[in-house]
Amino acid sequence: MQSVSLGRTRLFVYEDGAALTGGLAETLVELSAACVSERGRFALALSGGSTPKALYRLLAEDRFSKRMPWASTHLFWGDERCVDPDHPDSNFKMVDDALIKSVPIPSTNVHGFTGQGDDPARAAAAYEEGLRAFFALNGDDLPQFDLILLGLGPDGHTASLFPGTTALLERRRLVVPVYVDRLATWRVTLTLPVLNNGRHVAFMVAGADKQPMVTRVLSGEGPPLPAQLIDPAGTLSWYLDRAAAAGLAELEPAAEGRA
Ligand code: 6PG
Repeated sequence: MQSVSLGRTRLFVYEDGAALTGGLAETLVELSAACVSERGRFALALSGGSTPKALYRLLAEDRFSKRMPWASTHLFWGDERCVDPDHPDSNFKMVDDALIKSVPIPSTNVHGFTGQGDDPARAAAAYEEGLRAFFALNGDDLPQFDLILLGLGPDGHTASLFPGTTALLERRRLVVPVYVDRLATWRVTLTLPVLNNGRHVAFMVAGADKQPMVTRVLSGEGPPLPAQLIDPAGTLSWYLDRAAAAGLAELEPAAEGRA
């Protein structure tokens, strides 16, 4: 694994997808133990899509699952598709199949969206209420997740903050519904203030198809894309495989940290 810093951002580059998944699983297990030790719980906001599926499956394997403090771990979703929870596109279903069904996490620790298939606005409001209750928020307080996992879309979106959507401009609400023209579908998503309040925020991006967008986002050039607006109060890390990181000059062989 090679690690380099880009300003405040830490990059961790692994030879391939399997090494990336193993490295991030190890980081997540270690962080969960530290958070439970310090604050009695580990509040994790999960990314959807296809990339993190391998990570969730790995966390369900004994070599990681037996080290996870499941009784004190709380799972949330960074965003959800507005479909029923048993729909193939559901992020909840993806995590349920890959992880939740195989680990001893109390059902009360699994905080999925509800009702988004029927009424995105009501589902977003209900999820926001749930966040306010869980994190005991007052007024304009923001929830602080211990770890927020994010992915990167081909257009630079992350969570369901897509370019050109009003969701990107939201600074008051914690969760909003968003209609995504490109996909002709509704989503619900955590908003930027919430994502940027994470103690630790980690992008997980793999594959050569993501290389151009990884390079574009991390170069900081051009009009800001949603993924470039992720600038958390806490740590910001990018967990990449070498294919996705191939365009980053900072990773020339002479770079520090090659292990
Ligand atoms: C979703 C995710 C979304 C995802 C990116 C990358 O619900 O789809 O929240 O932001 O992380 O689109 O998706 P892949 O991992 O499938 O490339």
